[in-house]
Amino acid sequence: MAKDRVVLAYSGGLDTSVAIGWIGERTGAEVVTVAVDVGQGGEDLETIRQRALDCGAVEAYVADARDEFASEYCMPALKANALYMDAYPLISAISRPVIVKHLVAAARQFGATTVAHGCTGKGNDQVRFENGITSLAPDMHCISPVRDLALTREFAIDYANKHDLPIETTHHNPFSIDQNVWGRAIETGFLEDLWNAPTKDVYNYTDDPTYPPLPDEVVITFKEGIPVAIDGRDVTPLQAIQEMNKRAGAQGIGRIDIVEDRYVGIKSREIYEAPGAMALIQAHRDLEHITMDREQARFKRTVVDRWSDIVYEGQWFSPLKRSLDAYIEDTQQYVTGDIRMVLHGGRAVVNGRKSETSLYDFNLATYDAGDSFDQSHAKGFIELTGLPAQLAAARDVKFGRGVAIGKAKLN
Ligand code: ARG
Repeated sequence: MAKDRVVLAYSGGLDTSVAIGWIGERTGAEVVTVAVDVGQGGEDLETIRQRALDCGAVEAYVADARDEFASEYCMPALKANALYMDAYPLISAISRPVIVKHLVAAARQFGATTVAHGCTGKGNDQVRFENGITSLAPDMHCISPVRDLALTREFAIDYANKHDLPIETTHHNPFSIDQNVWGRAIETGFLEDLWNAPTKDVYNYTDDPTYPPLPDEVVITFKEGIPVAIDGRDVTPLQAIQEMNKRAGAQGIGRIDIVEDRYVGIKSREIYEAPGAMALIQAHRDLEHITMDREQARFKRTVVDRWSDIVYEGQWFSPLKRSLDAYIEDTQQYVTGDIRMVLHGGRAVVNGRKSETSLYDFNLATYDAGDSFDQSHAKGFIELTGLPAQLAAARDVKFGRGVAIGKAKLN
């Protein structure tokens, strides 16, 4: 009888390299690795593929998903201006679903019934992998060698040395890092003391904003919520993010230091750097200010708040997420135009906006003579909008419960 097969999300690092042999030993299954390029940089996919085979994988699937990730995961996050806890642009949270898609594709292709990943039992990523997998493939099982098969770091080093695996075991990075084109997440090590400021070596996508180069002015053209040109040159979503990573990164834009509420209940210290994402969100949000109806924008904030939470919590493929997407997508219909901003010293500041689909009406807004706004309507408008609170206040006064103003009582 053919052996069972397990598909393993493979990074090419020590833990997942050891997991190939370890899963085989512990479960008797054959291991198929899956490595997905989401713009994390580092080793090329062919090197990673070969290492997987050298470590005992029966098949090694690799996918360059950079454009897919940028277009189908980063762009929805941009349309949402998505920031978990008003701060974190969901870097890791949006990359897990695209990896999950490829894991399921590989599982189908190579006849696997179980998916494995390298997450610990303490983080959000395990939830995102496993809920993602079962949302796309309800028949699939999930396993985490670190969490479920006692694959500790010490064990991994021993195992790699004993089996002579082609992977470095001496180099020890003090941080746990996850990165892709949308940004970089850094945690653990001395950052776990909340009073310790991040040191220079924590950062890689951004230069120190304290000593910035000269200001960099950029014009970003959006079409229906998506950046389509930078300084007049056409760009794909991936190119837009990459270019803004470079230019905003050089100015130290998008550094974030936050104590974050993890889904599993832990508060944890996280450092992020997302220069392109933060600059694009800033520009996109500003364009929405001139192109989006006030009530639609107000409701969008509620929708986006929920969207960010559920994406953080690994519900990318859930029915609610799909429905919220439909709302957000609809709001982007007129989010088309140019935003000019200056990147400098850690900040991206918008100083010009232009749109054919703008709702800004100069003649209504101007304080110069000849405006078209009829101020005589304002008096009645205020009387009616203030009426409910006025009635309530009158009742308070009648019953001696007027609002206290300093020591005096009103009325
Ligand atoms: N706390 C962030 C999140 O949950 C970042 C996770 C980064 N993952 C990692 N393995 N270092 O989205």
